[in-house]
Amino acid sequence: MTAGVTAVVLAAGQGKRMRSNYPKVIHNVGGGPMLSRVLESAGQAGVDEQVVVVGYGREKIYEVMGDLNYVVQEKQLGTGHAVNQARDVLGGECRDVLVLCGDTPLIRGDTLKALLGQHREREAAATILTAEIADPRGYGRIIRNESGSVTEIVEDADASPRELEIKEVNSGTYIFNRTELFLALENIKPDNVQGEYYLTDVVKDFFDRGKRVEAFRLEDSEEILGINDRVQLAHAEGILRKRKNEELMLAGVTIVDPDTTRIGPHVTAGRDTIIHPFTIIEGHTNIGAECEIGPSAVIQESFIGDRVLFHNSMIVESRLGNNCNVGPFSYIRPGTHVGDNVRIGDFVEIKKSNIGHGSKIPHHSYVGDASIGDNVNIGAGTIFCNYDGANKWQTTVEEGAFIGSNSNLVAPLQIGRGAYIAAGSTITKDVPGGALGVARGRQTNIDNWVNKKMKDT
Ligand code: UD1
Ligand code: CA
Repeated sequence: MTAGVTAVVLAAGQGKRMRSNYPKVIHNVGGGPMLSRVLESAGQAGVDEQVVVVGYGREKIYEVMGDLNYVVQEKQLGTGHAVNQARDVLGGECRDVLVLCGDTPLIRGDTLKALLGQHREREAAATILTAEIADPRGYGRIIRNESGSVTEIVEDADASPRELEIKEVNSGTYIFNRTELFLALENIKPDNVQGEYYLTDVVKDFFDRGKRVEAFRLEDSEEILGINDRVQLAHAEGILRKRKNEELMLAGVTIVDPDTTRIGPHVTAGRDTIIHPFTIIEGHTNIGAECEIGPSAVIQESFIGDRVLFHNSMIVESRLGNNCNVGPFSYIRPGTHVGDNVRIGDFVEIKKSNIGHGSKIPHHSYVGDASIGDNVNIGAGTIFCNYDGANKWQTTVEEGAFIGSNSNLVAPLQIGRGAYIAAGSTITKDVPGGALGVARGRQTNIDNWVNKKMKDT
């Protein structure tokens, strides 16, 4: 916890280079809006509060991001003007202001923590997070004097040919003494190529007024990547994917082909789990130990137990117990809770249902709005008819029941303990425990029918 620090995240710009109908900061990267990633890192650094400066497309930001501490910058007059909008909402406790850009989602919480640490230790008035990059185009350049002190930041658009040669760039992340920051913001003017109030101009103002300006230079320049267009977005996605995959691999998970495996930041997986190619795992998902996931699995917001086999299937907002075997080609939809040792076969769709331990739904079935007990067998092609065109109804299948293949179970319906349903039945009435439910036309064989037909023609 670093006391007395408020984060101000700049997110009011349109991001013209994205060529999008949506504000840049809500574009997804690494499984969530880029703004969330920045806020998360600030949170990890232990700031007291976070303020988000919004403007362009803010309704869409509110929709995606929900309740946050927002301030509005009506006109996007530059990053300096944006920070100034937060002036009146900062709490009395706030001593330093951590400024972040909503479009730098690779920044790590640990880096921000180290930045704050150095700022406090050196009693600086401003500390700029910088890095050397091979291709500094588009970034502000860090100008230092003979003694190595930072004197100013010059924007790419305003830089002289000599300044353009400088490889040390401004990450857009800084920490400022609050009082000095707002003093300096009064002094800056939009007399530059872009006609904007540049936040970066406060650095020169600090230096000229004899305030201590420091740089915190990062080794890993990847972290400061700013997303201005979709090429950079894809680049950042790749970096985040690699980071997460490596974290899991080092924790004991085998990822057979990291290049084709995408795992979100809030996913955990246990030891000796193997993840096969073309798998996407997102949201708050926990996967147990010794599982085999994929190839081509999609898992969102779900809990998967230990020793689960999950092949070529999709699961959303659901839970699977231990030792389950799912797929290939099954779809488990939200609100499904599956016990241990359950087999869910190929081409099975399950929605909002509970499945007891040891039950089997091995082939070609639809199970919707059902409660299925332990050790139930659902034969191939069984359809739970849960919808009458107006309402959804429940079906209960009690422990040990056996549903013959190609049955239709028309809800609302209750199949009792250990009951049997004859294959091919359309069941519309409850079946008591231990009974056999049969509901189909009786078979008649017409002798010699084929020969007679031949004669007639
Ligand atoms: C900025 C820095 C540059 C740095 C780079 C790092 C300035 C003047 N330049 O340039 O030195 O190297 O970031 O990525 O600060 N924003 C607002 N309101 C505005 C303008 C911008 O909220 O009026 C927000 C944007 O939404 C964005 C962030 O500020 O999240 C940065 O703005 P952007 O236009 O991308 O600045 P850069 O040109 O990248
Ligand atoms: Ca930018």
